[in-house]
Amino acid sequence: MTATPSSSRPDSADAAEAFLRDFHNRTPGRQSVNMEAAPLGDGRTGYQVLAAEVAGARRVLDLGCADGALLEVLAAAGAEELAGIDLADGELEFARRRPALARADLRQGRAQELPFPDGSFDAVVSHMALMLMHEVEQVVAETARVLAPGGRFAVAVGGGSVPGEAMSLFLELARPYFKAVPPERSMPRLGDRRSRTREGLDELLTPAGFEPVSWQTVTIDMGGTPERVWISLTDAFYDMTALDEDQTARLRTDFLAAAPALLDPTGRIPSGMRLNLATTRLAAV
Ligand SMILES: C[S@@+](CC[C@H](N)C(=O)[O-])C[C@H]1O[C@@H](n2cnc3c(N)ncnc32)[C@H](O)[C@@H]1O
Repeated sequence: MTATPSSSRPDSADAAEAFLRDFHNRTPGRQSVNMEAAPLGDGRTGYQVLAAEVAGARRVLDLGCADGALLEVLAAAGAEELAGIDLADGELEFARRRPALARADLRQGRAQELPFPDGSFDAVVSHMALMLMHEVEQVVAETARVLAPGGRFAVAVGGGSVPGEAMSLFLELARPYFKAVPPERSMPRLGDRRSRTREGLDELLTPAGFEPVSWQTVTIDMGGTPERVWISLTDAFYDMTALDEDQTARLRTDFLAAAPALLDPTGRIPSGMRLNLATTRLAAV
């Protein structure tokens, strides 16, 4: 899930976390269904690409682990001690049902206050979650505290849409609707913009003792029939929760009227979403 920064207004960490907790308790598992249906060009999912960044780590913590999809990939890759933290218990219930996570330490809580001892992980990961977190300096400080010296930190954050494809079209059509939402229905601002860019992440991470990040951008393929793409797009943006039924229906009509211009000969429209992967290491002392 992601959010359009332009549709938001300043708000407190409390309001943002209450929104996220409520949303994810109501719709557990939604993110992983979308991500697992959207491979990269090489067939891997975003979870597999991120897990590869910490290959060989034995003890791994996932910040904003939700239903445990990334933890399951890490377990399959050989990580032995897994832990996850998430605001939403509803998501964690799904994670607890995964046989591969039977021994994982799954906690409901805030990444800003990690309930784990100093130096207890070889790697910390976070997939599409760090970018939603407020007080992100505190998240970074806690990550540095729980990592062993030399430990790795690998995050995937949203990198926006591919121009000329369906997600870009959707955003172009949706922005006027998002802007027209009255203040009493608008959603809180989510996260800190710095956690979405390479420069911003270096600004946050290096004072806490991390090396400058290595950075790669991959594109996940969310293409399909116009109807299928509409569903995946409405699932992908938190902003959709602010629209009422009538606005959603009108936006759907607009999208399905414009989408045929993108159709390829197989009846599919392309819809790429970029994922930025940042990986760093805690400087050994
Ligand atoms: C877009 S979902 C991504 C879930 C999962 N990482 C994935 O990609 O499948 C973001 C998740 O981060 C969690 N989250 C957001 N802020 C958090 C915080 N401060 N502490 C712990 N979890 C948080 C939300 O509850 C939600 O489950």
